[in-house]
Amino acid sequence: MDLWDCPAIVTGAASGLGAETARHLAEAGAKVTVIDIDAAGLETLANEIGALAIPCDIADEPAVEAAIAQAKAAHGAARVLVSCVGLAEPHRIIDQGAAMPLESFRRLVEVNLISTFNVMRLVSADMAELKGGMDGERGVIISTASVSAYEGQIGEAAYAASKGGITSLILPAARELGAFGIRVVGIAPGLFSTPTLFKLEQDLEPRLAQSVPFPRRFGDPAEFATLVLHVIKNTMINGTVLRLDGGYHK
Ligand SMILES: NC(=O)c1ccc[n+]([C@@H]2O[C@H](COP(=O)([O-])OP(=O)(O)OC[C@H]3O[C@@H](n4cnc5c(N)ncnc54)[C@H](O)[C@@H]3O)[C@@H](O)[C@H]2O)c1
Repeated sequence: MDLWDCPAIVTGAASGLGAETARHLAEAGAKVTVIDIDAAGLETLANEIGALAIPCDIADEPAVEAAIAQAKAAHGAARVLVSCVGLAEPHRIIDQGAAMPLESFRRLVEVNLISTFNVMRLVSADMAELKGGMDGERGVIISTASVSAYEGQIGEAAYAASKGGITSLILPAARELGAFGIRVVGIAPGLFSTPTLFKLEQDLEPRLAQSVPFPRRFGDPAEFATLVLHVIKNTMINGTVLRLDGGYHK
């Protein structure tokens, strides 16, 4: 798909993988809308790349519905959606004899999984109304999973479950939305250097990086964004979750 003048939405765009993806999309000429709960970070990015910034909590259903409508009014219905929102708050199921508060599991699944589906359903309904391009393609939806979907660690029960949900969502969504010329793809990153989410892992970087077969380092967010752009351009990639991890297994 040609990105020139193409309406694109990136969620979780104030930081890390989402911010770099928004930069790459804007450089390629897309009309980018960025969504994030961090209003200040979002504003800085939007000014830098000339995007429309819509601050909102991705778990707030009416706010998200309004955000998608606002993006559509400004740029037209999106042909590209990249969901990068992510929370990763480690919690043991039993911590010092006490059961994990259910609310912490619920919030994480709400933010990581349910919001990803919510944005997918709203954006795809608008996408399905667009005129088809080459091969009848109307758009592409990319959701960010994690290698934790397959190899979650102790403390990651909620995070891994939320990412496993995204991973399992990709194929049925691609099968259904293919009828409308919409592709659905997941990306499962390994270890990436991002400012906030994986601060803990970054502190352990020298040791952890040694467990990446090659290259022995954390991924650069630009490497994630480059894959996003490739997925958008390569129409044959559909209904799959692509690991981007240097061969790393947790
Ligand atoms: N960095 C890694 O190593 C890594 C590995 C595997 C998967 N991931 C996934 O990649 C995605 C991006 O992660 P990142 O490393 O760039 O993290 P990040 O913390 O830098 O970015 C996440 C963004 O999500 C936003 N966000 C959090 N809760 C929100 C909410 N309720 N509403 C709206 N926005 C909200 C944050 O403000 C932040 O800007 C996440 O889905 C994460 O799970 C990252």
